[in-house]
Amino acid sequence: MSYFSYKNNILYCEKVKISDIADKYGTPAYIYSKKTLSENFDAYANAFDKKSGLICFSVKSLSNLSILKFLSEKGSGFDIVSGGELERTLLAGADPKKIIFTGIAKTDEEILFGIEKNILSFNIESKSEMMRIEKIARDKKKLVDVAIRFNPEIDAGGHEYIKTGRKKDKFGILVSETLKLAKYISNSEHLNLIGLSCHIGSQIFELDDFKAAANFTKKLAEEVNKMNIELKFLDVGGGLGISYTDSNFPSPKDLLKIIENELQDRDEKIILEPGRSISGNAGIMISKIEYIKENYLIIDAGMNDLIRPALYNAKHSVINTTKGAGNNGSWTIVGPICESSDVLAKDYEMEAAEGDIIAVETAGAYGHVMSSNYNSRRKPPEILVSNDKYELIRKRETYEDLLKNEVDLSG
Ligand code: LLP
Repeated sequence: MSYFSYKNNILYCEKVKISDIADKYGTPAYIYSKKTLSENFDAYANAFDKKSGLICFSVKSLSNLSILKFLSEKGSGFDIVSGGELERTLLAGADPKKIIFTGIAKTDEEILFGIEKNILSFNIESKSEMMRIEKIARDKKKLVDVAIRFNPEIDAGGHEYIKTGRKKDKFGILVSETLKLAKYISNSEHLNLIGLSCHIGSQIFELDDFKAAANFTKKLAEEVNKMNIELKFLDVGGGLGISYTDSNFPSPKDLLKIIENELQDRDEKIILEPGRSISGNAGIMISKIEYIKENYLIIDAGMNDLIRPALYNAKHSVINTTKGAGNNGSWTIVGPICESSDVLAKDYEMEAAEGDIIAVETAGAYGHVMSSNYNSRRKPPEILVSNDKYELIRKRETYEDLLKNEVDLSG
């Protein structure tokens, strides 16, 4: 359920008129509904029926501090992929023992940071990384908890760019190597193997793919147990798909039913790392129609603000925040960036007039986090709505912000 809806032809987020937010903070801007985020998180947290579990929200999908703080207060753990994300989650008040650190290129600095903060686990993605973590742990005289992220060799996920679980993908450790690494870790004085983890991709609708991943994890855990290693968690990844143009997609309950069933004989805690299925439909991006030229709607948001359509040919539904005011037409909606790929939608039927505020739906995940300063554009603000109140949770960048890290060589 998402709390963006029309009342008397005017779009609201919860009980706040979108136009009020646009008047106050301008466009383009990202707007999030707290109630939607909350219900999406609860749908996961309450879906554990027979087993204990931990939801580690995937910070990469939406990383605003206020949102992480809200999810942390609701008991969420976090899946992070960089030192920057670790810094954010800790600042948001996250319990370090609910943070898992994934990613194939963890640097010395990031490993040390995670060790010092005593996080739940590093999801190791290569033998070299394992050796590196062990060395740093030895230097610091620590015993570090780790999990092996294995490559499940499953071809799932939406666009080619967001598949992660095939043998040829750069992620995870091949199954043939996994048991060797487990053996090594079991003999290490500085590494403690506490989990297995895998991730098969993003934007997945086929629950059978998750079933296969859980089954794979179970079999591998049995092999690891034969080495006299007891595990604490099995992490079956994130990636439950959401619909960008209608409202039909599998629920966390459907997903967990299958996973719990596959793992029913296992005692470990189940970890999931959902991102977009919590944050996606909790956010919209609003933008103003600056000009209409032939069938082009020229808006004030560009691919720098929301890159998904240009990068993955992603389809987002676009709506006018005020119904009944503009002219119906079939439009190509484009932004200000000097590239022909800066197209939000093609042949798109909607009513529109210059000056109207439009909303791009399902922009909460991989929206603001992937924005950039391309064309020296300022990143948009983020606003969080809760019932009849709204708060700025990130300011619009200023021209000063754009220049603050540049070094003026003229002195
Ligand atoms: N865990 C790991 C290890 C991941 O790599 C990802 C996403 C997730 C969890 C969360 O996946 P989700 O539940 O959000 O599907 N920028 C792309 C998506 C990239 C996803 C990368 N990994 C997009 O806009 O579609």
